[in-house]
Amino acid sequence: MAITLTVNGQAHSVDVEPETPLLWTIRDTLGLTGTKFGCGIAACGACTVHVNGKAVRSCTMPVSAAAGAAIVTIEGLARAGGLHAVQQAWIDQQVPQCGYCQSGMIMAVTALLGQNPHPDDDQVDAAITNICRCGTFARVRRAIHALARG
Ligand code: FES
Ligand code: FES
Repeated sequence: MAITLTVNGQAHSVDVEPETPLLWTIRDTLGLTGTKFGCGIAACGACTVHVNGKAVRSCTMPVSAAAGAAIVTIEGLARAGGLHAVQQAWIDQQVPQCGYCQSGMIMAVTALLGQNPHPDDDQVDAAITNICRCGTFARVRRAIHALARG
Protein backbone atom coordinates (compact mmCIF):
# COMPACT_ATOMS: atom_id res chain seq x y z
CA MET A 1 0.00 0.00 0.00
CA ALA A 2 1.42 3.40 -0.96
CA ILE A 3 1.75 5.83 1.93
CA THR A 4 3.07 9.37 1.59
CA LEU A 5 5.56 10.44 4.23
CA THR A 6 7.31 13.78 4.60
CA VAL A 7 10.73 13.18 6.11
CA ASN A 8 13.21 16.00 6.67
CA GLY A 9 11.15 18.20 4.38
CA GLN A 10 11.07 15.74 1.50
CA ALA A 11 7.94 13.84 0.41
CA HIS A 12 8.27 10.10 -0.19
CA SER A 13 5.76 7.56 -1.42
CA VAL A 14 6.51 4.26 0.32
CA ASP A 15 5.00 0.90 -0.49
CA VAL A 16 4.71 -0.77 2.93
CA GLU A 17 2.03 -2.38 5.06
CA PRO A 18 0.22 0.27 7.11
CA GLU A 19 1.09 -1.43 10.40
CA THR A 20 4.83 -1.45 9.63
CA PRO A 21 6.63 0.44 12.40
CA LEU A 22 7.72 3.92 11.33
CA LEU A 23 11.26 3.00 12.46
CA TRP A 24 11.64 0.25 9.86
CA THR A 25 10.19 2.43 7.12
CA ILE A 26 12.71 5.14 7.97
CA ARG A 27 15.65 2.75 8.19
CA ASP A 28 14.93 0.03 5.65
CA THR A 29 12.73 1.70 3.07
CA LEU A 30 14.20 5.21 3.12
CA GLY A 31 17.73 4.17 4.14
CA LEU A 32 18.03 6.73 6.94
CA THR A 33 19.94 4.60 9.43
CA GLY A 34 20.80 7.30 11.97
CA THR A 35 17.64 6.35 13.86
CA LYS A 36 18.46 3.26 15.91
CA PHE A 37 16.67 0.13 17.09
CA GLY A 38 17.12 -0.71 20.75
CA CYS A 39 14.19 -2.47 22.39
CA GLY A 40 11.23 -2.39 20.02
CA ILE A 41 8.79 -1.78 22.88
CA ALA A 42 8.95 2.01 23.33
CA ALA A 43 11.16 1.62 26.41
CA CYS A 44 14.64 2.86 25.46
CA GLY A 45 14.20 5.85 23.14
CA ALA A 46 16.93 4.87 20.66
CA CYS A 47 14.38 5.19 17.86
CA THR A 48 13.18 8.71 18.75
CA VAL A 49 12.21 10.99 15.87
CA HIS A 50 10.02 14.10 15.69
CA VAL A 51 6.49 13.85 14.38
CA ASN A 52 4.95 17.30 14.08
CA GLY A 53 7.58 18.59 16.49
CA LYS A 54 6.94 16.03 19.21
CA ALA A 55 9.40 13.32 20.23
CA VAL A 56 7.99 9.94 19.21
CA ARG A 57 9.36 6.43 19.68
CA SER A 58 9.15 5.23 16.11
CA CYS A 59 9.51 1.51 16.88
CA THR A 60 5.91 1.33 18.03
CA MET A 61 4.25 3.91 15.78
CA PRO A 62 2.61 2.37 12.70
CA VAL A 63 3.76 4.14 9.57
CA SER A 64 0.13 4.84 8.67
CA ALA A 65 -0.17 7.04 11.77
CA ALA A 66 2.62 9.27 10.46
CA ALA A 67 1.14 9.78 6.99
CA GLY A 68 0.80 13.47 6.24
CA ALA A 69 2.81 14.51 9.29
CA ALA A 70 6.14 16.34 9.30
CA ILE A 71 8.76 13.82 10.36
CA VAL A 72 12.29 14.83 11.28
CA THR A 73 15.10 12.36 11.87
CA ILE A 74 18.61 12.97 13.14
CA GLU A 75 19.72 13.38 9.51
CA GLY A 76 17.40 16.38 9.18
CA LEU A 77 18.42 18.26 12.31
CA ALA A 78 21.39 20.18 10.91
CA ARG A 79 20.39 23.04 8.65
CA ALA A 80 22.28 24.60 5.72
CA GLY A 81 25.50 22.83 6.59
CA GLY A 82 25.53 23.98 10.22
CA LEU A 83 25.00 21.74 13.22
CA HIS A 84 21.89 22.17 15.31
CA ALA A 85 22.66 23.85 18.67
CA VAL A 86 21.96 20.58 20.49
CA GLN A 87 24.42 18.70 18.28
CA GLN A 88 27.06 21.38 18.93
CA ALA A 89 26.43 21.20 22.68
CA TRP A 90 26.89 17.42 22.50
CA ILE A 91 30.34 17.99 21.02
CA ASP A 92 31.23 20.83 23.40
CA GLN A 93 30.21 18.81 26.47
CA GLN A 94 31.62 15.54 25.08
CA VAL A 95 28.34 13.74 25.76
CA PRO A 96 28.55 10.55 23.66
CA GLN A 97 30.38 7.40 24.67
CA CYS A 98 29.61 4.53 22.27
CA GLY A 99 27.04 6.80 20.61
CA TYR A 100 24.36 4.20 19.97
CA CYS A 101 21.64 5.91 22.00
CA GLN A 102 22.66 9.42 21.12
CA SER A 103 20.64 10.13 17.99
CA GLY A 104 17.50 9.29 19.96
CA MET A 105 18.77 11.26 22.94
CA ILE A 106 19.45 14.33 20.80
CA MET A 107 16.01 14.14 19.17
CA ALA A 108 14.33 13.85 22.58
CA VAL A 109 16.31 16.79 23.99
CA THR A 110 15.67 18.93 20.91
CA ALA A 111 11.92 18.36 21.28
CA LEU A 112 12.07 19.19 25.00
CA LEU A 113 13.97 22.44 24.46
CA GLY A 114 11.60 23.38 21.65
CA GLN A 115 8.72 23.21 24.12
CA ASN A 116 10.59 24.38 27.22
CA PRO A 117 13.87 26.24 26.59
CA HIS A 118 14.76 26.40 30.31
CA PRO A 119 13.85 23.05 31.89
CA ASP A 120 14.78 22.37 35.51
CA ASP A 121 16.14 19.01 36.62
CA ASP A 122 12.71 17.59 37.40
CA GLN A 123 11.44 18.56 33.96
CA VAL A 124 14.51 17.01 32.34
CA ASP A 125 13.96 13.80 34.29
CA ALA A 126 10.28 13.70 33.30
CA ALA A 127 10.91 14.34 29.61
CA ILE A 128 14.17 12.52 28.93
CA THR A 129 13.55 8.88 29.77
CA ASN A 130 15.86 7.54 27.07
CA ILE A 131 18.18 4.77 28.24
CA CYS A 132 21.93 5.07 27.80
CA ARG A 133 23.88 1.91 28.61
CA CYS A 134 27.08 3.95 28.77
CA GLY A 135 25.67 6.14 31.53
CA THR A 136 25.98 9.53 29.86
CA PHE A 137 23.05 10.99 31.81
CA ALA A 138 25.15 13.50 33.77
CA ARG A 139 26.67 14.84 30.57
CA VAL A 140 23.27 14.98 28.90
CA ARG A 141 22.00 17.08 31.80
CA ARG A 142 25.07 19.32 31.67
CA ALA A 143 24.57 19.91 27.94
CA ILE A 144 20.87 20.71 28.44
CA HIS A 145 21.67 23.27 31.12
CA ALA A 146 24.42 24.80 28.95
CA LEU A 147 21.87 25.18 26.14
CA ALA A 148 19.34 26.67 28.53
CA ARG A 149 21.88 29.25 29.66
CA GLY A 150 22.49 30.12 26.01
S1 FES B 1 13.75 0.92 20.00
FE1 FES B 1 12.06 2.25 20.20
S2 FES B 1 12.03 2.77 22.30
FE2 FES B 1 13.62 1.28 22.16
S1 FES C 1 26.44 6.49 24.57
FE1 FES C 1 26.49 4.31 24.56
S2 FES C 1 24.43 3.72 24.91
FE2 FES C 1 24.45 5.86 25.21
